[in-house]
Amino acid sequence: MNLKKPIDVLIAESAESGEGTLKRTLGNTSLIALGIGAIIGAGLFSLTGIAAAENAGPAVTLSFVLAALACAFAGLCYAEFASMIPVAGSAYTYSYATMGEFMAWIIGWDLVLEYALGAATVAVSWSRYLLEFFHKYGIDLPHNLLVSPFESLKLGDGTFIAKGEGIVNLPAIFIIILLSAVLIRGTKESATMNNILVIVKVAVVLIFIALGWSHINSANHEPYIPANTGVFGEFGWSGIARGAAVVFFAFIGFDAVSTAAQEAKNPKKGMPIGILGSLVICTLLYVLFAHVMTGLVNYKEFAGDAKPAATAFAVTGYSFLQDGLIIAILAGYTSVMLVMLMGQSRVFYTMSKDGLLPTFFSSIHHKFRTPWKTNIFFMFFVSIFAGFVPVSDLGHMVSIGTLFAFSLVCIGVLVLRKTDPNRERPFRTPLVPFVPILGIITCVGLMATLPLESWERLIIWMALGIAIYFFYGKKNSVLGKKQAGNS
Ligand code: ALA
Repeated sequence: MNLKKPIDVLIAESAESGEGTLKRTLGNTSLIALGIGAIIGAGLFSLTGIAAAENAGPAVTLSFVLAALACAFAGLCYAEFASMIPVAGSAYTYSYATMGEFMAWIIGWDLVLEYALGAATVAVSWSRYLLEFFHKYGIDLPHNLLVSPFESLKLGDGTFIAKGEGIVNLPAIFIIILLSAVLIRGTKESATMNNILVIVKVAVVLIFIALGWSHINSANHEPYIPANTGVFGEFGWSGIARGAAVVFFAFIGFDAVSTAAQEAKNPKKGMPIGILGSLVICTLLYVLFAHVMTGLVNYKEFAGDAKPAATAFAVTGYSFLQDGLIIAILAGYTSVMLVMLMGQSRVFYTMSKDGLLPTFFSSIHHKFRTPWKTNIFFMFFVSIFAGFVPVSDLGHMVSIGTLFAFSLVCIGVLVLRKTDPNRERPFRTPLVPFVPILGIITCVGLMATLPLESWERLIIWMALGIAIYFFYGKKNSVLGKKQAGNS
C-alpha cells in the first residue's frame, strides 16, 4: 500500500495558529533575504576556485549559468509546491502528499546529504578562511589539527601540508559544536539579524566585483575555455558541465525558503517571489564574481587553494579591506551552516513525528523547546564528516544528493498535475510538462558529470535508507497505523 498524506490535512495543519505554532512574520523581502542568506557561502567563496582550476578555467562563469538553469527549472517546481502546500518540511512533505510514503522517506533520507553534509562542507571551508585570518595575526595552530588525513592543504604563507600529514580538521568540528549548541539553546536567528548578515554578505560580493573589476588582467581570461585535456570533465565543454555540477553547490539553499512557508505572511505570493527572486539575484552576482576572480589571478593558481577569494582579492592591493572581507565571509558561512543544521533537524523532526524515525528525533527539550536530541545527534554526525572527509568529496556528495531531491520535486509536479489537476495553484510552474522535464534532464545530466565514487556513495546511502525504512519506518508509520486501524 502506497500511503499518501492528504494535502487538505497538511494545509489544515499549516493554517493552525496560536501557541505552539509558528508565527507568520516573514514578508517578501525577508523571504528573499532568507534565500540569499542560505545561498551565498562556501560555493561562491571556495568552490569557484576549485571548479576554475580543475574543470572550467575562466569559463566557470558558464558553469554558473548552467547550474543556475538547472536550479531555475527546479525552483519553478518548488515554487508551485511551496505556494500550494505552504507547510514546513519542504520536499519531504511534498512527496508525502504526491508520491507517497516510500518516496517521501527516500527524499527525507536524501536530504541528509544536502543539509548535514552541506553543513560539514561549509564548516571545512570556514576553517580555511579562519586559518588565513589567524595567520595574519601570527596565530598558527598545529598543522596536523587543521586538515583531514585524506587531503592536502596549501596554507596562506605557502606551507604545504601533504596528504596523510593531517589528523583532523579541529576548527571545522569546533564551529559545528558551537552552532549546534546555539540551536539547542533556541537562539534562533531573527529575520532582522538574517537581513543584516545578508546585507553584509551581498556588500562584500559587490565590493569584490567593483574593486576587482579595474584590476582584471585580460591575459588571465585567455583562453576563456581552456582546451580539454583528453579526460572528460577536465576543461573544454565537458569541463564546463562538470564545473556546473561542482558550483551547483553555490545555489543550494534556495529551497530553504520553502521550509519557511509556515512562517510567511502570504505564502501564496511570497514563496515564488522568495525562491525565484533569491535565485536570480545570486546568479547575477555569481557570474560577475567568477568573471572578476579568474581575471585577477590565473585559474591554474587556484589549484589546492581553499580560500581563493582572499587570494584573488590580494591582487587588488586593498590590503586594508582583506580583514573585512574575511570576517564577512566567516559571518556569511555561519548563517549558511545555521540554516542547514536547522533545516536538517526540522526534516528529521517531521519524519519522526510521522513515525518513520524513532521518537528520539522529535523529543523536545522541556526548557529550550528545541529538538535537542536531533541537534546533538547531528552535531556528532556532521563533526565526523567535517573533521575527516576531504572537502571536494563532501561537496560532490551534497551536490548529487540535492540534484536527486530536485529531480524528485520536478517529478512530483508532473504527478500532481495528473492526479489532482483541479486543486488551487496560486503559482503554476509555466510550460508544464516541459519545465519539469527539462528540470529532470538538467539535474540528472549534472549528476552524470559527477565522479563515479559520488554515485557509489549515493547508492550505498540510499540502500541503507531503504533498509531502515523496511525494518523500521514502514512498521511504525503513524499514517500506516491509522489506515490499518480504519480498514
Ligand atoms: N549555497 C551554500 C553555500 O555555497 C550551501 O555555502
